[in-house]
Amino acid sequence: MLVWTALPHFVWTKHRYFHQCQPDPLSAPDSACFQQLLQDGVVVRENFLPAKTVAAIRDEVQTSGMLEHARSKSYHRDGVCIVEQAAQWLPTAQCFYQHPMIRQMAQAYLAQRAMQFRQIVNYKTQVGQSAQPFELFFHFDDWKPRFKAFLYLTDVGEQEAPLVYLKGSHRGLWRLWKETELFCLYRQSAQGFADNWESLFLGCYFPHQARRLQELWGWQPQVCTGTAGTVIFFDGRGLHRGNWLQRNQRLLLGSLWKYEED
Ligand SMILES: [Fe+2]
Repeated sequence: MLVWTALPHFVWTKHRYFHQCQPDPLSAPDSACFQQLLQDGVVVRENFLPAKTVAAIRDEVQTSGMLEHARSKSYHRDGVCIVEQAAQWLPTAQCFYQHPMIRQMAQAYLAQRAMQFRQIVNYKTQVGQSAQPFELFFHFDDWKPRFKAFLYLTDVGEQEAPLVYLKGSHRGLWRLWKETELFCLYRQSAQGFADNWESLFLGCYFPHQARRLQELWGWQPQVCTGTAGTVIFFDGRGLHRGNWLQRNQRLLLGSLWKYEED
């Protein structure tokens, strides 16, 4: 299907979708945090979990056998290990994956019927340009809102592959064309993420495009650094990118949420 012929259908679909899926600030557990999320698309909160708990989760990642399992299943590529359904390996991490504040934030941001569809561990170990190439480009994940919570289990400075987010880029009509492309061409696996190589790149912008958009709309980048125990809430509709590791290692947990009927 040609993308431009799908535009009216997409606009109608999007209109219907947002009729059901609307933020509800009154039900947010932390009003200031929620307002910042609405405005910027990203919020960073240090000391979300106590240092002791964070250290216990970090130990459990190393001792649970999860990383060996990931290596045997080829989930460990290019110095990045991504494990899905990670909660089954990490009883200690339930305090993050089942955290009531995160659930309430997701429900307030998406809809009462929000559901957690991924529980991941993301472990970067290889220093140098090794991360998955698509994530190094500014991209958005979907035309639908995605509430994502990342918990750093290691200290993340500018050289430890912090997430970078362009604040405010989750809003506006500028995104309509690429959203229509995603609507037409994105192929999703049953687990809720891209099921082929091309789909990974569909939301990406070349560096010159991202820079021009940033200048045009005046978006400020938020480099999401933080000590172990920091949590980042963000909407996957905003432009964001990963970074490659320049030193040390970076370990994080991810809790990803969507509207139940997606
Ligand atoms: Fe992403």
